[in-house]
Amino acid sequence: MDILGICGSQRSQSFNRMVLNLAGDCMPAPMKLSTLDWDAVPPFNADVLAKGFPESVAAVRERIRKADGVVIVTPEYNFSVPGMLKNLIDWISRGEDQPFNNKPIAILSATGGPLGGARVQYDLRKVLMFMNTQVLVKPEIFVGNVNQKFDANGQCTDELTRQLITAQMTAFKAWIERQQRANAV
Ligand SMILES: Cc1cc2nc3c(=O)[nH]c(=O)nc-3n(C[C@H](O)[C@H](O)[C@H](O)COP(=O)(O)O)c2cc1C
Repeated sequence: MDILGICGSQRSQSFNRMVLNLAGDCMPAPMKLSTLDWDAVPPFNADVLAKGFPESVAAVRERIRKADGVVIVTPEYNFSVPGMLKNLIDWISRGEDQPFNNKPIAILSATGGPLGGARVQYDLRKVLMFMNTQVLVKPEIFVGNVNQKFDANGQCTDELTRQLITAQMTAFKAWIERQQRANAV
């Protein structure tokens, strides 16, 4: 089961990337995580799109199309979706064959503050709803005070966080299988 991970932070020491890696560790077989490299995606511009998808965007779109499911782990920026992540989603959203159509997605968020991204997730869900994705509803994962939950090697030191993410990934596997059965009939 090919799971594509998208980290909403491009920071090299991103805590959200640590959470994404942890989600990969918590996935039951046969789920297998690989992470999306989207650093080369340019700012969205409809004039550029009119000439065709840039190579970096086309590659991202094909990678998403191939995946059985997508995990998005993102920080909250000013109570909402980080601009660069929204830019990526805007590129993905274009075209008749937009690859998020019917795609199972799980969302997690992590922040330095205690709420763990309580506000970003509902903005992100709203955006993804418009793109006809199949976003897992529960369990929701908000990793608050994230800087206290990982060590210098990026390993999670908080057992409850690990348990909650394991529960979400197990539910996500069942969610993907359910969507695949529905698509087969
Ligand atoms: C532009 C910006 C806006 C932020 N806004 C919020 C916010 O609205 N809520 C919050 O809990 N944290 C906010 N933060 C703090 C982030 O939660 C914190 O920097 C987090 O570690 C970023 O994730 P990362 O480690 O994956 O890069 C903001 C950070 C930045 C850089």
